[in-house]
Amino acid sequence: MATINDNYLKLPGSYLFAEIARRVAAFRKAHPEADIIRLGIGDVTQPLPMACIEAMHKAVDEMAHAETFHGYGPEQGYTFLTDAIIEHNYTQRGIQIDSDEIFVSDGSKSDCGNIQEIFGTNNKVAITDPVYPVYLDTNVMAGRTGTLKADGHFEGVTYLPCDASNNFAPELPKEHVDMIYLCCPNNPTGTTLSRQELTKWVNYARENQSVILFDAAYAAYITEDDVPRSIYEIEGAKEVAIEFRSFSKTAGFTGTRCGYTIIPKNVKGKAADGTLVEFNKLWNRRHTTKFNGTAYIVQRGAAAIYTEEGQQQVKKTIAYYMENARIIREGLQAAGITAYGGINAPYIWLKTPNDMPSWDFFDKLLADVNIVGTPGAGFGPCGEGYFRLTSFGDRENTLRAVERIKNQLHF
Ligand code: MLT
Repeated sequence: MATINDNYLKLPGSYLFAEIARRVAAFRKAHPEADIIRLGIGDVTQPLPMACIEAMHKAVDEMAHAETFHGYGPEQGYTFLTDAIIEHNYTQRGIQIDSDEIFVSDGSKSDCGNIQEIFGTNNKVAITDPVYPVYLDTNVMAGRTGTLKADGHFEGVTYLPCDASNNFAPELPKEHVDMIYLCCPNNPTGTTLSRQELTKWVNYARENQSVILFDAAYAAYITEDDVPRSIYEIEGAKEVAIEFRSFSKTAGFTGTRCGYTIIPKNVKGKAADGTLVEFNKLWNRRHTTKFNGTAYIVQRGAAAIYTEEGQQQVKKTIAYYMENARIIREGLQAAGITAYGGINAPYIWLKTPNDMPSWDFFDKLLADVNIVGTPGAGFGPCGEGYFRLTSFGDRENTLRAVERIKNQLHF
């Protein structure tokens, strides 16, 4: 009989957002009349920028004629997109990225999840706690961890606790680690790492020959100057860091799917025989073997965000979501609830009143005021006692949700 990958059995029954969807569906079935407001999963609500829509329409028309039709494209992405990304997000910030150091994909969730395949299974992994579950779950699936312990941590993983006591900035691990996942601006806490803090991590990675897997999916939401938009703004990072970026939250591509990963050629790992190998080469091998490129139409849409109109439209939508963030943050504070994040990120991380367990708070919020959020414990044991709200809702629902929390939620 075929055997299974037993590592999957180490994982909790369902992915966090699948569990939330299950609970919401059960509530809806029991209360079909409930007017539910969803501020749970970080899914956008505003339409794609018009510049993207126009570019995609044009690309669709191209597909209708043999002379302009596009079949398989380059697996790494069309140069009309990769050149625009490099110019806009890197060259203009004084960072040099070569055209063979970028890989366009169907989104950074896939890349963050798949990247671990090109690392040895004996690598020691460090993640923050709380954490975007994809980093951890994919390493569990790959067999890079032991089993789940009673305290909610997996054996063999180095957890870097982040809570209000350290301002949600992880401290360097006491033991050696090989792969370090950092997300900045952070999902779920909505907080960031300063230039100085990030420099500490880059220095650690250089001294310990580790690799930083830097998730910058929310970089477009940064408003403060001291927060690096890319890890490559930090000296030496091009030797030790892989960066993930996404069009999902930047330009509304959660359903359209497009992201990219930067792997500088100087980021290297050791082979069994001791030779140094570029991770870039391995990822290129993987990408070309397992992926046939992001759809031409989608890449045309993504490239349009770098036009002048595209930039204006993207900025407008981001400002809209950040205004929601302000409304939520200030509304929570007015309701006497301590809230973090929401300044450089579309997430607000609140402290549950009276230290209520976060799944209990989830149930209460859903039952009493029909609002869906995300329990902090779903992101790791240190998320217990916290709760995440997203600012990706539409304005009217955001305002209604805040009014409900202020006026109808009682403890
Ligand atoms: C979230 O809610 O954490 C995000 O939607 C996750 C993601 O982008 O996959």
